[in-house]
Amino acid sequence: MPSLHIYPKRYAHNLKMMSDLFHSHHVSGMVVTKVFCADEHLIQIVNQSDFEYIADSKIENLKHIETNKPKVLLRLPEMTQVEETIKFADISLNSELKVIKALNQAAEVNNQIHKIILMFDLGDLREGIYYKFEYMDTVKQILDMKYIELVGIGTNLTCFGGVIPDEVVYEKLKKIKNRIESTFKIELQVISGGNSSSIAMLLENRLPHFVNNLRIGEVLVLGRETAYGHHIDGMYDDVFELHAEIIELKEKPSMPEGELGMDAFGNKVSFEDQGLMQRAIIGIGRQDVYCENLIANDDMTILGCSSDHLMVEIKKGNYQVGDQVIFKMNYAGILSLSTSRYIRRVYEDNL
Ligand SMILES: Cc1ncc(COP(=O)(O)O)c(C=O)c1O
Repeated sequence: MPSLHIYPKRYAHNLKMMSDLFHSHHVSGMVVTKVFCADEHLIQIVNQSDFEYIADSKIENLKHIETNKPKVLLRLPEMTQVEETIKFADISLNSELKVIKALNQAAEVNNQIHKIILMFDLGDLREGIYYKFEYMDTVKQILDMKYIELVGIGTNLTCFGGVIPDEVVYEKLKKIKNRIESTFKIELQVISGGNSSSIAMLLENRLPHFVNNLRIGEVLVLGRETAYGHHIDGMYDDVFELHAEIIELKEKPSMPEGELGMDAFGNKVSFEDQGLMQRAIIGIGRQDVYCENLIANDDMTILGCSSDHLMVEIKKGNYQVGDQVIFKMNYAGILSLSTSRYIRRVYEDNL
């Protein structure tokens, strides 16, 4: 059975490097746990870290997380989940007045205060009130709600539109903050300025001071900022490794024979004839991970995959049927392998 090998000590190291960086700039952090489905071993590592919050996009994950840190629901709450949001999240990110009203009602029933961060869309075109449109009436209505506490504002960048955070983008958020604070004579505690794509600015000492919080997932598991995809010196890019078995190893042609139609997923296929090659089939496929999201070692090249089979060309090295092959993976790879129930998890003690 393929297994996802997890290195908690590497994750702890990455957390420490980032929390030191954050705190030296007076920025608090929300550790995003959805990429590993809030795995409880890694949650323990987050609990031991100096980061302030745990965040996840799924209520189902927040429900099971055991922590003393405040829990944050990252994805906008569904109307059908307002009760659970109140129950399992201390803070939620929001952009819809209708939902915030429902949260207020649910909080009233439970006689509790629910905290929210109001999201603004600065042009990336995912969640948030579009920054050019009117929002002051929405803020006023939120401030009038008895069971909702507006703890801050936030934005999400480099997610849908690929917008890279910079001084010009952040100026838009700063104007919103200043306008809300001066009009309503309040101080917003949290200005949540983005995700792993803001790490480049933080490293270069360019993150504007008014941004005092970031929500980060990818940088902690892959050791890279996501504005430009640069690796960060000293961080691990292999907190997760996939181990999967060679189930067939044979010399075969590189070119299929016969009239070529579609592959198992309905894609038109084309091949280049490279003569005979040493080909291995590995026992994992698209049901668990898209092979585009796996990174092979230098001995082999990934040729493609169907639902349960991954085809590679073995270029060098001494491999046999039954051998385990190790792959690194990108963020989408960790996400799908963590989610697949056909993958065993193995926790490694070493760094
Ligand atoms: C609202 C929100 N903030 C932050 C993140 C974290 O993003 P990243 O993994 O790029 O740091 C995500 C995605 O998981 C998200 O949906």
